[in-house]
Amino acid sequence: MRDLNEDSITQAVLDRFAETPNPRLRAVIESLVRHLHGFVREVEPSFAEWEKAIAFLTATGHMCDGKRQEFILLSDTLGVSMLVDAINHRMPEGATPTTVLGPFFLEGAPELPLGATVAPAHSGERMHVAGEVRSAGGEPLPGAVIDIWHSDEDGFYDVQRPESAPIRARFRSDAKGRFHFWTSMPTAYPVPDDGPVGDMLKSTGRHSMRPAHLHFMIAAPGHETLVTHIFAEGDPYLDSDSVFGVKEALIRPFAAEPPGTAPDGSAGPWRSLRYDFALKRDH
Ligand code: BEZ
Ligand code: FE
Repeated sequence: MRDLNEDSITQAVLDRFAETPNPRLRAVIESLVRHLHGFVREVEPSFAEWEKAIAFLTATGHMCDGKRQEFILLSDTLGVSMLVDAINHRMPEGATPTTVLGPFFLEGAPELPLGATVAPAHSGERMHVAGEVRSAGGEPLPGAVIDIWHSDEDGFYDVQRPESAPIRARFRSDAKGRFHFWTSMPTAYPVPDDGPVGDMLKSTGRHSMRPAHLHFMIAAPGHETLVTHIFAEGDPYLDSDSVFGVKEALIRPFAAEPPGTAPDGSAGPWRSLRYDFALKRDH
């Protein structure tokens, strides 16, 4: 194939993939070529712009290691992570919506008994969290494994501060599917913005903030593992989350309660959050 030009090159590239043995790979790569060529035709980049694009992707790759994944952050801030999530979680009526996992989940969080306090030394306002885990059909799910993790009072995750005690834990729901624990109030925080993704956000006039939230991952036999957050009602970033992860059904009051009324009898101000989760059956 010779003398390819602006009009003929896309078909020539598609033809080159025509013998791809795996039909799914063929469909994916053909779509990639069509959309990539379409993008270039629409944008008509100069050589300087194309070099800048390559430099941006190269810098994004250089920012990836065991602790930092700048490509996932790029996917998150372009809304691609939530689009993939939506396509893969077409939930039945009544099931709790999903949202992004984020980079701060760790396997092996300390397993605590129901009612325990997560990170007791943290200075954020105390918050009581309680609810039930059920199947989307309504049956309680005893023994569900509930992982929680969240930011501290300054907007940092424990993994971002080597001196921090873990602000994460694993609980198991009781015989009626119920769970409850104490933790400290999470705060709104910026996604890591000291790399190429941060530069992209700044140069496009976007902020990097996420509204305050508590992460949950809930696993129960016979059900799809639920990865979600509960967001604080009234947070100023609910409508401009930098990773597009907010869903109305995941917003709840982190309610300020009168001092001295806490269920453990302690004095002082406290907050309460209640959420009942409904898991989708796996097929
Ligand atoms: C998080 O909620 O922890 C998170 C999600 C996406 C990107 C960065 C952080
Ligand atoms: Fe988070």
